Amino acid sequence: MLGPLFWNIGDRVMDIYAYIKRDHLKVADLMQQLLDIRLAAFHRRLFEQIKSELVLHTEAEERTFYRAINHAAREAATEEEMVHAFDDHAEIRTLLQDLTDLSENDEMWMVKFGELKHAVEHHVQDEETNVWKKARMVLSADQEQRLARDMDREKQKILNDVQVAAQ
Ligand SMILES: [Fe+2]
Ligand SMILES: [Fe+2]
Repeated sequence: MLGPLFWNIGDRVMDIYAYIKRDHLKVADLMQQLLDIRLAAFHRRLFEQIKSELVLHTEAEERTFYRAINHAAREAATEEEMVHAFDDHAEIRTLLQDLTDLSENDEMWMVKFGELKHAVEHHVQDEETNVWKKARMVLSADQEQRLARDMDREKQKILNDVQVAAQ
């Protein structure tokens, strides 16, 4: 997904937090764009983009970052935080499915979209504070850098699988 140049910010190597933050900002920007456009005819296309970003992000995040945290820390407090994060992802997936099934001309569509935006914002806030705090306690700097590449590779793998399945 990303060129090799992307991995260095100045003389720093991108870590998992910078990688995730970039995704979060991208989705926030797309969601705002959708809200700014009043014409329902444009909503579906933007929504499809938001949906694929979110599906890829949550899936790859679970398979790499969340997995690494769960693996590194076995204490109950961490488990609780991670269960909460997984629940947030499940809620986001449900809302994405609801929006997929509804017509964008239905007046409920924007209400649902507002719910999705709210759920994503809540989760991002929670993740960037509680999950990251925990992650920084249990992951090594080396792992934090490796995970950025792992998550990116995982996304590529998911995309390839989708393409193969569609053939
Ligand atoms: Fe995230
Ligand atoms: Fe997440």
